[in-house]
Amino acid sequence: LRGRSLSVTSLGGLPQWEVEELPVDDLLLFEVSWEVTNKVGGICTVIQTKAKITANEWGDNYFLIGPYFEHNMKTQVEQCEPTNDAVRRAVDTMNKHGCQVHFGRWLIEGSPYVVLFDIGYSAWNLDRWKGDFWEACSVGIPYDDREANDMLIFGSLTAWFLKEVTDHAAGKHVIAHFHEWQAGTGLILSRARKLPIATMFTTHATLLGRYLCAANIDFYNQLDKFNIDKEAGERQIYHRYCMERAAVHCAHAFTTVSEITAIEAEHMLKRKPDVITPNGLNVKKFSAVHEFQNLHAMNKARIQDFVRGHFYGHLDFDLEKTLFFFIAGRYEFSNKGADIFLESLSRLNFLLRMHKSDVTVVVFFIMPAKTNNFNVETLKGQAVRKQLWDTVHCMKEKFGKKLYNSLLRGEIPDMANILDRDDLTIMKRAIFSTQRQSLPPVTTHNMIEDSTDPILSTIRRIGLFNNRPDRVKVILHPEFLSSTSPLLPMDYEEFVRGCHLGVFPSYYEPWGYTPAECTVMGIPSVTTNLSGFGCFMQEHVADPTAYGIYIVDRRFRSPDDSCNQLTQFLYGFCKQSRRQRIIQRNRTERLSDLLDWRYLGRYYQHARHLTLSRAFPDKFHMQPTSPPTTEGFMYPRPSSVPPSPLGSQASSPQSSDVEDEDEDEDERYNEEEEAERDRLNIKSPLSLRQVPRGKKKLHGEYK
Ligand code: UDP
Ligand code: G6P
Ligand code: GLC
Repeated sequence: LRGRSLSVTSLGGLPQWEVEELPVDDLLLFEVSWEVTNKVGGICTVIQTKAKITANEWGDNYFLIGPYFEHNMKTQVEQCEPTNDAVRRAVDTMNKHGCQVHFGRWLIEGSPYVVLFDIGYSAWNLDRWKGDFWEACSVGIPYDDREANDMLIFGSLTAWFLKEVTDHAAGKHVIAHFHEWQAGTGLILSRARKLPIATMFTTHATLLGRYLCAANIDFYNQLDKFNIDKEAGERQIYHRYCMERAAVHCAHAFTTVSEITAIEAEHMLKRKPDVITPNGLNVKKFSAVHEFQNLHAMNKARIQDFVRGHFYGHLDFDLEKTLFFFIAGRYEFSNKGADIFLESLSRLNFLLRMHKSDVTVVVFFIMPAKTNNFNVETLKGQAVRKQLWDTVHCMKEKFGKKLYNSLLRGEIPDMANILDRDDLTIMKRAIFSTQRQSLPPVTTHNMIEDSTDPILSTIRRIGLFNNRPDRVKVILHPEFLSSTSPLLPMDYEEFVRGCHLGVFPSYYEPWGYTPAECTVMGIPSVTTNLSGFGCFMQEHVADPTAYGIYIVDRRFRSPDDSCNQLTQFLYGFCKQSRRQRIIQRNRTERLSDLLDWRYLGRYYQHARHLTLSRAFPDKFHMQPTSPPTTEGFMYPRPSSVPPSPLGSQASSPQSSDVEDEDEDEDERYNEEEEAERDRLNIKSPLSLRQVPRGKKKLHGEYK
């Protein structure tokens, strides 16, 4: 590559790698996605978290392109004028020609520039743009698919913008990187118009994969057997699938987020990705190593408070022996594994009851659905708790004053009389107010589709109604969390930190940020060998369970067996002592370097090199190097855990009934020693690599 220099980078105990530096001063990078400043799911997390390292590398030559929504702009973007001449001219020209283009800095780490198009404002062009699109690729979009029509407007505006930029780019080469089918029309139109840009397309899933899996089809064992055109037609997504497939084939470089999705793409989109770009996060390292443990304790206390209110009148369980599990994400009932999770919870409830366990599990489902706001019973719970707290506070004040005055007089107060009759009445009334006729609700909101909602219907079928004898209690919160919520005022990160276990037993999950986020916060999680993240961890961690990454086998087992395995994981987790949970959290957190963009960002760097060398072969040459690889690198088993003949499951911390809090500090010390030993061990990872027994190959599996 012309002007290329090599620098060697390393992070923690991970192996060193070489970075080929691009002459970024002579380039412009545009990244296009429907989720720029617009949170829908994990794609927003990719873009938002990656912005920091990309802005560090590209400085003012990096721009994100997305849709304009007034609320998002007001709350997340600081409006400003573009300093780059080509971008300023492009924005001005489009605004002069009947568009509304907003420009500013997205107030996230890295504060990248954003260009946001008002889709509704340009909708009057739709028919003309449909014609242009048909001319470009012979794909027609039905009038009643509002989303696809919006994407066409978005893509047409993007291609127009890129044309204006390249007209004034003054010799700078342009890379345009498009995410997911929603952004794909911009890519198709840019290529059809032969714009002088290097294009990259990253898919985070395939449309057909998502649809077929949601239909409970045995997807992974039949990848080569589907008649994909027919399947797309039958599901009425033929035009979307064409948009997606055309974008994939138009791109100079095609990437996806995991090996499993690469195989899927080869079958569903008929192109093998050039690079696999695993998703990273911005890992926060605290100066005090155990700060994240303290954060767990602090946030757990806030969740406990919520639970006190929610279960008022039914608080016959010990909150110190209560574990908080959760599942979160877009509401795709079976793709996200909510179905087998509920089934396992029913089995877990049975096991805990049968073994007369004193552990209670409160499980949160955080999955947005259509609602009519919070329900009265839920709000009342928090009000009752607050009122009780206020009553106690008043009594405490009164009691304190009496005690103070009495001590001032040099007397020990008469304890029998320190509370008068009225005080006792107030206390009795407070207790009466915590009585309720109904069970603590299983959902926090009024659900619009209550009777057909899949989570609620399953809860009805398995009978997990938060009855007193149930050891597993369930709360569906059908809205993403927010620190401004009147009910559970915590943001998602705080909530995750306060929980004990994230459970994400997905069937369809190209990557799966939710368990990755748990890992970097030091919270154990359940994932599967059908999720990109789960496979990645399986490849790089010798004993994932010991590190708090429980990988359910959904690939080679029947649904019932997977469910049993999940139940065993959950039950095993419930049997751990506090001390064992602390050890496990420390280990989980130790894996975070592997998920850091500072490490994983190099895959995107490599893809950008590749796309430039393909689009502008006279200017940019790619050394005949293969893509970067993490292959061969592996976290060893934690040194204090003896390898078990039974495989990974048994080497997780095993049960103990003693809750020895006093030993926390000693344990921390030992854990630090263990971490240091493991860090040294990592340097000879290959000797620790294990070949999984009886691993079957997916159809067309790489390597
Ligand atoms: N998430 C969130 N608030 C919530 C629950 C989830 O912001 O209350 C985020 C979570 O942090 C994660 C994303 O939603 O980054 C879900 O991404 P994932 O890759 O797990 O799944 P996707 O929805 O993209 O399929
Ligand atoms: C953290 C805190 C400890 C606390 C523990 C509770 O480690 O630093 O002080 O005892 O969390 O753990 P648990 O798994 O019971 O929530
Ligand atoms: C998609 C996938 C999810 C992935 C995310 C980010 O929404 O469903 O598994 O983590 O994109 O790549």
